[in-house]
Amino acid sequence: MAQYLSDNDVIDRVLAHIKDGTTDRGDRVRQEPVDHYISDERLAQELAMFRKLPTPICPSAAIKNHGDFITYAAAGTPLIIVRGKDGVARGFKNACRHRGTKVAKDHGCVGAFVCPYHGWSYGLDGALLGVPHENGFPELDKSKLGLSEVKIIERGGLIYVVQEDGIDNPETLLEGLPEFFTPEQELFAQADGIVESNWKLFMESFIEGYHIKPAHGKTFYPFGFDNLNVIETCGPHSRITYPFRRIEKLANVLPEKREATGSLSYLYQMFPNVIISQLTHHTTLGILEPIGTERVKFTTYSMTHTRGQADQVSALENAIRDREFVSQTGQEEDIAVVEAAQESLASGANTHFTFGHFEPNIVHFHEQIDRFIT
Ligand code: FES
Ligand SMILES: [Fe+2]
Repeated sequence: MAQYLSDNDVIDRVLAHIKDGTTDRGDRVRQEPVDHYISDERLAQELAMFRKLPTPICPSAAIKNHGDFITYAAAGTPLIIVRGKDGVARGFKNACRHRGTKVAKDHGCVGAFVCPYHGWSYGLDGALLGVPHENGFPELDKSKLGLSEVKIIERGGLIYVVQEDGIDNPETLLEGLPEFFTPEQELFAQADGIVESNWKLFMESFIEGYHIKPAHGKTFYPFGFDNLNVIETCGPHSRITYPFRRIEKLANVLPEKREATGSLSYLYQMFPNVIISQLTHHTTLGILEPIGTERVKFTTYSMTHTRGQADQVSALENAIRDREFVSQTGQEEDIAVVEAAQESLASGANTHFTFGHFEPNIVHFHEQIDRFIT
């Protein structure tokens, strides 16, 4: 089973690259038709693919306690994700079984969902509990009108949703992935925003380090390297390591004494539309939700780290500072170049985009879309 390298193996590989002036590189060049970023038909195929794959929808910590729920529209389907009285996370289509309106909005903690239209109520397990003036529905079988359930997988501190059948044993696509979040890690920030670009253009900006110096010359680059990365894949997913310059100090430290925190950051691409960026003091889960071909909603959940932190207060302070640095600097630079690329898509300047040997995780990403799209 494929797995990602240990921190120490990654550090060894980075140190060798620094010494040799090299980086991990791919062995394939890919030409991706620009039409794939513009076409409504292609997007419809991609969204159909999303609905069959196990896609992360939130960290377990977002619905920590019984009755905690979130709502989220995934690949066009409004969903409720809720933790039941038995502690099990469940997912339902957010649609009343009477006349379809949403029975929950935003997020919160409830004992039951009560539809705002005519008051039908549903338990945390989705069962239809009550119908006001029930004698108006003489044939109604309440046991058949629970909320429509979708498959949920909870693993490694993440909640995944599988909306539709079509892939045998979808869990196998998660084999080898690490535990991303432990129960001690605290969810300290949640946000969402819109980026004016195709979801794939935005995704591509996270998963290569070839752009660090030109695009992040005054933000990330002073702390890192230009085009120096470790590249790995795990099934349909991938990981890229962005080392910090501080890592050079580890060259003379025994492997068992090395501390990876502060020396490198990991960017996991969770196929198809999610990233997990593990930085020094916090980890962010980011979901890229296509809103048509030209927009993407970016929803983030940020979690504190416990390892290497003196106490809870300093862990939270460090996490907040770390997150502000990333979201107010490098992130905005990425969004600027990506939105600028979006504006040129329809100009005809490019019929294809070319991904070279320094962009192998993007090549892998598009190969996986080809694999799962029907
Ligand atoms: S639509 Fe929900 S009770 Fe009528
Ligand atoms: Fe970037």
